[in-house]
Amino acid sequence: MSYYISPSFLDKLAVHITKNFLELPGVRVPLILGIHGRKGEGKSFQCELVFERMGIEAVHMSAGELESPDAGDPGRLIRLRYREASELSKVRGKMCVLMINDLDAGAGRFDRGTQYTVNTQLVNGTLMNIADNPTDVQLPGSYDSTPLQRIPIIVTGNDFSTLYAPLIRDGRMEKFFWEPNREDKIGIVGGIFEPDGLPKRDIEKLVDTFLNQPVDFFSALRSRIYDEQIRAFIHSTGFEKVSLRVVNSTEGAPTFAKPNFQLPRLIEYGNLMVKEQKRVENSGLVREYNQVLSDKSFSIPNNGDPPTHPLTCTKTRIYPFYYTRNNKPRSY
Ligand SMILES: Nc1ncnc2c1ncn2[C@@H]1O[C@H](COP(=O)(O)OP(=O)(O)OP(=O)(O)O)[C@@H](O)[C@H]1O
Ligand SMILES: [Mg+2]
Repeated sequence: MSYYISPSFLDKLAVHITKNFLELPGVRVPLILGIHGRKGEGKSFQCELVFERMGIEAVHMSAGELESPDAGDPGRLIRLRYREASELSKVRGKMCVLMINDLDAGAGRFDRGTQYTVNTQLVNGTLMNIADNPTDVQLPGSYDSTPLQRIPIIVTGNDFSTLYAPLIRDGRMEKFFWEPNREDKIGIVGGIFEPDGLPKRDIEKLVDTFLNQPVDFFSALRSRIYDEQIRAFIHSTGFEKVSLRVVNSTEGAPTFAKPNFQLPRLIEYGNLMVKEQKRVENSGLVREYNQVLSDKSFSIPNNGDPPTHPLTCTKTRIYPFYYTRNNKPRSY
């Protein structure tokens, strides 16, 4: 299957990565490239496609690793992974990058309810420090005076306004807002349905019918079309036996004929998926059930505005409040 990479995406990544491996006299190149945009538009996926195309090795980190019961762990881990990538580049003789997916989910601050922890502060601080001294990244307890190979850091996220502002300033982070246009979408969706032999005008019609849907929608739609066959397979095998038939069967994995990928069917399934999305949006039960969210004072603060909600802590006061026996919040 040949996936489509948007030319503007490829260009941005290729230039940023290459620029970071070149010695440009008197030019200070930002180390971090921040790719942001709507969910499911292919930021992470296309990064992988670009790395593959350019033969670049990537060392990965994700938002989940940016929080730990042991404050300082995430910062240490970033340094460790950065050094790993640097070593990898030297050993393999190739360009390497450090890729952090969904940085805002781990290090961002969404509203007054998000606890600004020591971890969050250290993650922001560590990244800023690496961006300022990319060839001198040390681990606690050891000092290595040999300069490191500079490694570009690619981060993805949905909303970078949740990040610590000095981290995303232009000298440290180059920003790239990823929003595929119609042409990009037709290319990407064409790549997704390539094995099914859908003609170009059907792809165009499909994209135009669901123009506001992210790329992820079309890839989920393709998988949805297989549902009928899977259902038929389950019924023919029997609910009781399907588990044994699928896992650890002597007959080998079940095979399926190609389903009907005609445009009307795709549109029918697409509409069903849109309906499900609408149900989630309309239900809005969280507001009804969660007192905290229905509280009007619980809104997103201005940048730098110290929060007043008792469950949160301020930017400078990094230790959370604790509760006394009569349930009054007190700070440490
Ligand atoms: N160029 C592409 N070709 C084929 N499929 C793609 C392409 N880009 C994205 N997809 C499909 O869309 C899905 C979502 O993409 P991806 O995970 O990269 O989105 P994202 O922008 O990183 O989303 P999030 O902000 O939620 O992390 C992928 O799993 C893949 O199935
Ligand atoms: Mg992603």
